[in-house]
Amino acid sequence: MDAIVPQPLSMTQDELKAEVGRAALAYVTPGSVLGVGTGSTVDKFIDALAASGMPLAGAVSSSERSTQRLRAHGLRVVEAAEVESLSVYIDGADEIDGRGCMIKGGGGALTREKIVADLAERFVCIADASKQVPVLGAYPLPVEVIEMAASPVARRFAQLGGDARLRAGVVTDNGHPILDVHGLRITDPPALETEVNQWPGVVTVGIFARHRAQVCLLGTLQGVQTLVFSCRWRRHSPPHRPQQGAPLAKPNYSFEKRQREQAKKKKKEEKEREKALRKAGGLPPAPDDESEGADDGTPAPAPAGRPPA
Ligand code: 5RP
Repeated sequence: MDAIVPQPLSMTQDELKAEVGRAALAYVTPGSVLGVGTGSTVDKFIDALAASGMPLAGAVSSSERSTQRLRAHGLRVVEAAEVESLSVYIDGADEIDGRGCMIKGGGGALTREKIVADLAERFVCIADASKQVPVLGAYPLPVEVIEMAASPVARRFAQLGGDARLRAGVVTDNGHPILDVHGLRITDPPALETEVNQWPGVVTVGIFARHRAQVCLLGTLQGVQTLVFSCRWRRHSPPHRPQQGAPLAKPNYSFEKRQREQAKKKKKEEKEREKALRKAGGLPPAPDDESEGADDGTPAPAPAGRPPA
């Protein structure tokens, strides 16, 4: 249980952001390399980090904006290529739902944010209470696209009831435009994230469901609340980061399961038919070592004496 520090009766959104920025320091391990997001809340966090004097090996930054701010404070910025993993990534959000899924990209840094979040074991979201929503989508969903794909992607969103508008005068750190999609009600964030990721020309969709927050420090008038979300999705599938020498987890696809079950059923039916034939004298008696097909439904070699089918 968090100790709730009483706050003044009225606080600006900016002050709430500063509060959560300071609270996030508790999640930073001195001497570590840290993942750092982008935005006005993260700016507060960077300022608090610098003011704290905590020694840090470095920070992997998610934007030119954060890189500049980190460096201005004398904090070392490390390239993503220099680290294999990070224990913590700290970033803001435009919206966060009750499962820790987020809309991000209001500041246009969504692609690098997802890359750095993917390196981290834990995403700590820092946000003021206005960002907490029951269902994502009231905030227009940012989608970074290859310029040529802007219209086709906008048409696809229109089919889903979304109104995609080009963010005027904005080019990301990666040189791409951004579409802001209005009018969506994202009831299943992982499904929509997966779907949009398939569309040709989409660089990054601003749904962070696969990379959702494990913890959210929410700035409220009653103090900073710590929301902890249960981990239903594994951030790193086994093939992405296998342990040395560890076997890869067996896939559990329902399609394969169905195929195995059908093969088993077929084998059972064949056996029953054979038994009935034998009983009726249409087949010679079964050999002692009657071999059976493999469990995966591979048919057994026909025993000697069995007439060709
Ligand atoms: C930037 C982001 C930001 O985290 C998001 O826009 C929240 O920003 P702020 O802290 O300024 O409210 O995703 O791409």
